[in-house]
Amino acid sequence: MEERKAQLLAAAQAAREKAYAPYSHFHVGAAVMLSDGTIVQGCNVENASYGLSVCAERVALWSAVAQGRRDFVGMALVVASGSPCGACRQVMSELCPPDMPVWVQTDDGEVRRYTVAELLPDAFHPHDLGD
Ligand code: THU
Repeated sequence: MEERKAQLLAAAQAAREKAYAPYSHFHVGAAVMLSDGTIVQGCNVENASYGLSVCAERVALWSAVAQGRRDFVGMALVVASGSPCGACRQVMSELCPPDMPVWVQTDDGEVRRYTVAELLPDAFHPHDLGD
């Protein structure tokens, strides 16, 4: 688990370098790991039409889905301060196992560990649609 954490944090740090954040200047990197150890990165991508901006976490998750993969086993986020936004928590909650670890490294050097369920208790889930 320590190796998985280190690999994910390194990948998220590298992804942060690619952030396109000319409006907020708030650069965020994310990385998700798949069951075979493959890592998929994401960074925040902003737009002059501000509301179209997307967070690093969703870019990483959606990139993996676009590669045909949803077998998520871990995620890391590297961010100046804070933790995943509510929208990203909802997307994680739908796509990732509830007990999946999410490591968040902030610029003060702290690394916090959450699970997906801790980030969004009592989430709205697909089964609530009654399908
Ligand atoms: N952002 C993320 O990428 N992830 C988060 O968890 C919080 C916010 C981005 C969105 C926007 O590009 C910038 O950070 C400022 O909100």
